[in-house]
Amino acid sequence: MSHTLTRREWLSRSLTIAGGAAAAGSGFFLTPVIASSKLSRRVPLRMMYNENPYGPSSVTRRAMRMAFQEANLYNMEPATAELKALIADQVGLTSEHVFIGAGSTEVLNVAALTYGRDGGEILSPDPTFEAINDYGKTTGAVLKKIPLQDDFEMDIPAMRKAISAKTKLVYVCNPNNPTGNITKDRRLRPFCEEASKKALVFVDEAYHEYVRDKNYRSMIDLVKAGENVLVSRTASKIHALAGMRIGFGFAKPEIVSALEPHMTGGLLNMMGLRAALASYRDNDHQLFCRKKNDEARKVVTDVLDEMGREYASSKTNFIFFHTGRPIQKFQAEMEERGVRVGRPFPPYLDWCRLTLVKPEQMLKFVTAFREVMS
Ligand SMILES: Cc1ncc(COP(=O)(O)O)c(C=O)c1O
Repeated sequence: MSHTLTRREWLSRSLTIAGGAAAAGSGFFLTPVIASSKLSRRVPLRMMYNENPYGPSSVTRRAMRMAFQEANLYNMEPATAELKALIADQVGLTSEHVFIGAGSTEVLNVAALTYGRDGGEILSPDPTFEAINDYGKTTGAVLKKIPLQDDFEMDIPAMRKAISAKTKLVYVCNPNNPTGNITKDRRLRPFCEEASKKALVFVDEAYHEYVRDKNYRSMIDLVKAGENVLVSRTASKIHALAGMRIGFGFAKPEIVSALEPHMTGGLLNMMGLRAALASYRDNDHQLFCRKKNDEARKVVTDVLDEMGREYASSKTNFIFFHTGRPIQKFQAEMEERGVRVGRPFPPYLDWCRLTLVKPEQMLKFVTAFREVMS
């Protein structure tokens, strides 16, 4: 049957091809297609959800295409076991230490369900990634939030003091979202060791692969040491598989056995599993994305420095900076110029969380930003 492409279909195919070529490093990038088009205002630059603008690597895309052949099969258990073994091996744990969720959000939700139900207290810094608190609210958890210090550091003395007999879970996000900064190993590790004697410590390391800072260390080795610690990671960020919904929880086997049965999705999706199996073996793509992310960050920090604007020290694929104007107004003004930025994060209502995109796409942000701030 002949099929004439509508303009929208044509555009979407061109973008897919351009995105794929870019990820494969051919130099044929997505941005010029958008920027040179009149559509540039109608296709906003997505700088709001901390997505990876490159998408999966060509190796991963091939694995995803191969997965079409398994779409009709309940073949998930062997693929799940293979992925657990691969991931466990990469961090020096065993398969019994890993469970896989529909994104790390499911890992967060299941922890909130298990530890937060019946009035269990969840302690977290504020602001931070809210999934665990949001789900906790639905299960009757009591939420205790400890404001960040003025310098965006987690207030560890206040967190320590806030732990009580009712505290069932302590949530730490490192690097933190929305601020993008890290808590240094020498501060975080003793806190996790101490807090884990009283409650489960959940360390969310969604942005782990982006971090390049000698003061940062994963808390996975506390899991190895048998502490009451759960670390989550995700395929959504540097692996660019947010739409595939694959995330990981690492904890000692007793904790995994307590949480895993509560997973609500049952089996995982086949294409996500195949994609993650390919992506976690493809170190080159991670290195490429991290390098580009560092370049994109420099574009923003250069402009912010030039304008004398304050910003938090970003170690992630987003940056939190002071606009000095109400965020909702700033959002609308940027949207008018084809740039979609992050939502409000109280109490920092004149700050903006901005996701980094490809370095060559940053020009559109810089132009819009200069216009809005002038
Ligand atoms: C800190 C943090 N944790 C977890 C997630 C959830 O990601 P996913 O469910 O896609 O793994 C996000 C998403 O933005 C995040 O920023």
